[in-house]
Amino acid sequence: MTIKRIGVLGCGLMGSGIAEVCAKAGYSTMVREMEEKFLDQGMERIRRSLSKAVDKGKLEAGQRDEALARITGTTDLEALADCDLVIEAIVENVDEKCSTFADLDRIVQKNALFASNTSSLTITQIAMATERTERFVGLHFFNPVPVMKLVEVVRTLMTSDETMQRALDFVNSLGKEGVSCRDNSGFIVNRLLVPYLLDAIRAVEEGVGSIEDIDKAMQLGCGYPMGPLTLLDFVGLDTTYYIADIMFEEYREKRFAPPPLLKQMVQAGRCGRKSGRGFYDYSTD
Ligand code: CAA
Ligand code: NAD
Repeated sequence: MTIKRIGVLGCGLMGSGIAEVCAKAGYSTMVREMEEKFLDQGMERIRRSLSKAVDKGKLEAGQRDEALARITGTTDLEALADCDLVIEAIVENVDEKCSTFADLDRIVQKNALFASNTSSLTITQIAMATERTERFVGLHFFNPVPVMKLVEVVRTLMTSDETMQRALDFVNSLGKEGVSCRDNSGFIVNRLLVPYLLDAIRAVEEGVGSIEDIDKAMQLGCGYPMGPLTLLDFVGLDTTYYIADIMFEEYREKRFAPPPLLKQMVQAGRCGRKSGRGFYDYSTD
């Protein structure tokens, strides 16, 4: 079965990026949000990103328009019924993901593949909400999706060889590089990245240096494109908090424990760039 129609669940930071790269690669893309206002915001993000690529000479205006014409927004889950692959990028919460997939399993044609973009939950626990566990994989994209080359392709004990191959071929068709990994919380990248980011927050808590100096030190000292606190604002502090909580629950190791400052910033609504304020102030951007 050829993959032609893609369903994307969630049009937030990641869902909008995933919908954009699918449409750019020629796939007919249906993106589902909970409310029209979130859909409008996500579609606007896609339009801006594609137009920026045109301004930089990386895309022709006609290609942008064609990609936009391939994307349909909806708030209706039933609209994903005839998709060949559904990629989920909703909030990092196991109950939300499982209940959405259980509903989708009843709606979407039986041969379609399901994929989750979860950062820290195991694919196994999400797949078990469906009756198509052999056609369920992890497709973990990186932020910003249009720029980052990697997708982790995650295999559970139940994923079939055919599903794994089709998922890797699909990743290639987007112009991305896949790495295969076994299903474990955080896969490869977040297993290594999350303790580093959380340690940067602990460094702030302990007054090791200012926010700016901690970022500058890691950027200029290690050649990282962004300092860790800038990256945390970029990923979203709410999302990072959910990820840390899930990974700590899974491994019971201190390195994954969410620092109190992270929790307080989320409680205070300082979720990073997307909320206008995190470690830095973006209100004038
Ligand atoms: N959408 C599309 N294109 C974008 C973009 C976006 N949101 N942001 C930047 N770009 C493009 C720019 O257009 C630019 O393209 P050209 O070089 O062709 O002109 C290129 O990316 C570089 O951008 P800038 O010059 O504006 O800025 P920069 O050099 O600082 O790069 C960056 C921006 C690519 C985001 C870079 O800072 C970077 O790589 N940061 C680290 C990102 C990272 O680590 N991501 C992983 C997060 S963890 C994760 O995703 C997993 C998880 O589960 C939490
Ligand atoms: P986000 O908060 O920007 O977006 C999530 C969106 O999902 C929201 O717009 C919300 O309205 C929508 N949503 C919630 N329930 C829904 C449902 N049932 N159907 C459709 N839409 C629904 O979050 P994000 O940063 O895009 O993260 C989404 C997923 O991607 C999470 O699992 C996260 O762990 C993962 N992820 C995030 C990053 C990152 O850097 N932010 C990187 C890789 C993976």
